[in-house]
Amino acid sequence: MENLVNNSSYKNSYNQQSVNKNRILTEDMAYILDKLSAEERMKMKDATILITGCGGFLGYYFMQFFAHYAGELQIKKVIALENFLTGTKGWLDTLVENNDHIILKEFDVIEDRLEDVADAENANLIIHGASIASPIFYRIYPIETMDANVTGLRRMLDFYKEKNITGFIFFSSSEIYGDPLPEFIPTSEDYRGNVATMGPRACYDEAKRYGETLCYVFHHKYNIPITIARPFNNYGPGMNIEDKRLPADFAKAVHEGRDLVMLSDGKPTRTFCYIADAITGYLKILLHGKLDVFNIGIDKPEISVAEFAGLFQKNAKEIYGYQGKVDFKISDDKHYMTDNPNRRCPRIDKARKMLNYEPSIFVNEGISRYLQFLRINNGQLL
Ligand SMILES: NC(=O)c1ccc[n+]([C@@H]2O[C@H](COP(=O)([O-])OP(=O)(O)OC[C@H]3O[C@@H](n4cnc5c(N)ncnc54)[C@H](O)[C@@H]3O)[C@@H](O)[C@H]2O)c1
Repeated sequence: MENLVNNSSYKNSYNQQSVNKNRILTEDMAYILDKLSAEERMKMKDATILITGCGGFLGYYFMQFFAHYAGELQIKKVIALENFLTGTKGWLDTLVENNDHIILKEFDVIEDRLEDVADAENANLIIHGASIASPIFYRIYPIETMDANVTGLRRMLDFYKEKNITGFIFFSSSEIYGDPLPEFIPTSEDYRGNVATMGPRACYDEAKRYGETLCYVFHHKYNIPITIARPFNNYGPGMNIEDKRLPADFAKAVHEGRDLVMLSDGKPTRTFCYIADAITGYLKILLHGKLDVFNIGIDKPEISVAEFAGLFQKNAKEIYGYQGKVDFKISDDKHYMTDNPNRRCPRIDKARKMLNYEPSIFVNEGISRYLQFLRINNGQLL
């Protein structure tokens, strides 16, 4: 097989003047690349990749990965779309300025036309991540959240249904399982869920469920090679500290030297999957090229959110000299905890077996990496 990594003449044909040099980020990018098989890397050769929601949390690591390795992997072009509803801009502008194979376009998947995006018709790998993932924000924008996952997805599928694509990832969510009955934890892909159709979280959960069905139907009607990811609680660099998800709130408090505020009794449990492991899983899904659905997360340890806060405290002390404590409060928002699942823990045997997905960055190390990244960047996404 041709050695992509050492093909220096190709690398030099790229105008890749700089990539983000944050040590945590460069190590994570190398970790992700290392976890991709030679066959998976080959599937990106000459690819035009189109990504929606590129300015969000997962978008940050996808975009950094492409900025670091598009040359080595011989990716032809990356078309990055974002409407900046919640996504951030500054770091993206810098990234695009320095990498001439990445094109950024302000684009709303709900109403803008892919026909008007140069080269979108030639894209063969599609990443549909546009949505709003933070519960605080999707409750502020419930209609936009539903529309991105239903209308936006539908428009993407319509555009690509008769084109020559080789992979399409739709980001569903572990939230499609709702609050699983105890005997279904850890939760595998065949669990059908315990979900409310009405309630503060329904706009997200039910839109993802409908999105999965759209993928299923379009695959059967048009043979689109679409694969669905169900992410379980990702965290780490790229998550904006203003994002209002729990890891972001803790990171912001550490960065600002304030106490960690816990708005629940601290008892709900989760497994927390570090972003570098998660993105590895998503790339494997993108390159799978067949209809299927995979949980992407980590299966241990399942810890309470109070323990999660404790790990933030411990690591923050080492990295920031942090002296804060955990402060239990009641949210002013009466729906803050409504339909919040008590336990969330995935079975990932299917992704292990079929995709060779093996997450290995456990929560203590992941929190340490997130805080080190923020310390180096002074809390900013650069
Ligand atoms: N991060 C997780 O742990 C997690 C868990 C479950 C599901 N997911 C799903 O994965 C995907 C990415 O997650 P994330 O954490 O990066 O979310 P995010 O909210 O950080 O980023 C999503 C991005 O999509 C953009 N967007 C929203 N509506 C849009 C529209 N109409 N057109 C174009 N862009 C639009 C937002 O501005 C934002 O930048 C989402 O679909 C999310 O629902 C993520």
